[in-house]
Amino acid sequence: MCGIFGIVTKEIQNLGPVLISAGERLSYRGYDTVGAATLPKQGDIDLRKDTGKIQEVAEKYNFKDMSGDRAILQLRWATFGAPSQINSQPHLDSDGDLVGAHNGNVVNNVELMQQFREEGMTVRSENDGESCVHAVERYYDQGNDMVESIRMATKDLEGDYSFVIGKVGDDRLYAIKKGSGLVAGITEDMTCIGSDLPSILPITRRIVRLYDGEIITFWAGGYEITRVEDGSKITREPEISEESIEVAQKGGYDHFMLKEIHEQGQVAGELLHMLDRSTDLDQFLDKLQGARNIYLIACGTSFHAGLLGSVYFNQLAGKAAIPVLAPQFAAQYGSSVGPKDVGIFISQSGETKDVLNAIETAKKHGMVILGLVNVVGSTLTLVSEVHLPLTCGYEISVPATKTYCNQVLTLLYLALRYGGHDTGVLHKVPEMMDITLEEISSQIKPAVDKLSEWDDLYILGYGLTYPVALEGALKLKEITYVHCEGILSTEFKHGPLSAVSDGYPVIFVSGPDDVPLIISGINEVTCRGGHVIAIGFEDSRLEGNAQETIIIPDVDVSENLRPAILALLSVIPLQVLSYHCSLSRGYDPDFPRNLSKTLTVD
Ligand code: G6P
Repeated sequence: MCGIFGIVTKEIQNLGPVLISAGERLSYRGYDTVGAATLPKQGDIDLRKDTGKIQEVAEKYNFKDMSGDRAILQLRWATFGAPSQINSQPHLDSDGDLVGAHNGNVVNNVELMQQFREEGMTVRSENDGESCVHAVERYYDQGNDMVESIRMATKDLEGDYSFVIGKVGDDRLYAIKKGSGLVAGITEDMTCIGSDLPSILPITRRIVRLYDGEIITFWAGGYEITRVEDGSKITREPEISEESIEVAQKGGYDHFMLKEIHEQGQVAGELLHMLDRSTDLDQFLDKLQGARNIYLIACGTSFHAGLLGSVYFNQLAGKAAIPVLAPQFAAQYGSSVGPKDVGIFISQSGETKDVLNAIETAKKHGMVILGLVNVVGSTLTLVSEVHLPLTCGYEISVPATKTYCNQVLTLLYLALRYGGHDTGVLHKVPEMMDITLEEISSQIKPAVDKLSEWDDLYILGYGLTYPVALEGALKLKEITYVHCEGILSTEFKHGPLSAVSDGYPVIFVSGPDDVPLIISGINEVTCRGGHVIAIGFEDSRLEGNAQETIIIPDVDVSENLRPAILALLSVIPLQVLSYHCSLSRGYDPDFPRNLSKTLTVD
């Protein structure tokens, strides 16, 4: 996720303060690099950009003194190209007359850059925002007008993105929406666009919503919308937004957690696009193929993703991948690893101290360090020989949701590739995630009511659903403050069963192949008065034995992949359940007491 902002005013004026405050409002979308450009009628574009947060870069490059009647701002959350000054946005075209910036991912960036070079264009960075500018340059230099050039450019630019672009000697800017957020705001003297509503609301509440496949041409006090598909014009009047800035930042959801849960399908789609085209993925797989032992090393939610990944590797690739909690790595394996071993370090933040400590141990023994990480530019991305980004954008809520799902999906993808299987079927997953979310939302109320009566419960899973049970339990304990333990279902009888009394809640997550075993576990609980909530695909045996069921819509994939996909989807009801249980107890699920999103301490 990145943030873009563009503005056109009637008179030349000091636009610096407007850019800085729009940048501050967009800062949650990216803080790897920041850049601003003003466009003159004649002469050179004033482009100032660097690594760092908005306040740092604005201060260093004196944004507050930037003046003009057209300006573009970008805040970057790095995906393509390291967070460096050269990869910062906005970008210029070959001769410096066009300037543009994007938000999103152009997934065929590497191929496009190669083409642009071969066509004689000046390519300065590795960043896909620059591809957007050159793609427009390509058609503009052939004599097309800007709107036509943008329309043609979108045929070359694969992925989900929006971008804003302008040229010297014009009085307008142009922006396109294709998958990523884009809204316009308008007054008599000004028109602006931003990646989200909060970036615009303090300037004006008179807004114009934009939809995928639309280009907006805007000038001071006016705009025109063009359909990319056929070049036809769209008439759309501005509307007055009543939304508060805070609500708008959450995209209309009450909490970031709920928003991030709802983004899971979308970011899964973006991840698959990226993995299908990634050359880093091939390198990553090469390192795995040559490994003696593979270790999956992480903490918290990321560890649960690793645990599930290890089952995927065993079942789909016939290769043991050893999951280990990062702080335990030195004690358990420190003296037995060496240069033939590979560690896949999994971390949303890429900064967790426990993980970095384990990397130190791994390095000392010459191990190959690989990373699965959301925050590009974080320490983990720097110390990994190869890393794969999770492409989730900024996860604000402390409980990890969308990053967990993309970690799991990446590990499933890797296991399939390692095992020589086709990954095409995974393209069904984003839609399955959306459908699951929709279908389970109406089913969880009885479970929320039941759990509001208890401060103590278990979540049980088996095989592929064991890590899901651990992750569900972590979600619940993080944001409801109740004691909730996730364990292997078959272990329940070896001790924890003593906790069961009349009405005591136990949640079972069942894989399609494990129903008979899970039924035994369910009955061990119900015959002692316990209250069982079963999660799984529709199965009359689950419905006949548990007091409650939460049914995940079945999936149209081969029999050997059904359990793997169920494991990926079955965390969704547990996330939603935890969210509502947190609310029912009067807590803020986004910011649970005592916890931090990134733990940079031992
Ligand atoms: C903290 C967070 C957890 C997270 C864990 C690992 O404890 O509160 O949500 O799972 O760190 O974080 P990482 O960034 O390494 O995935």
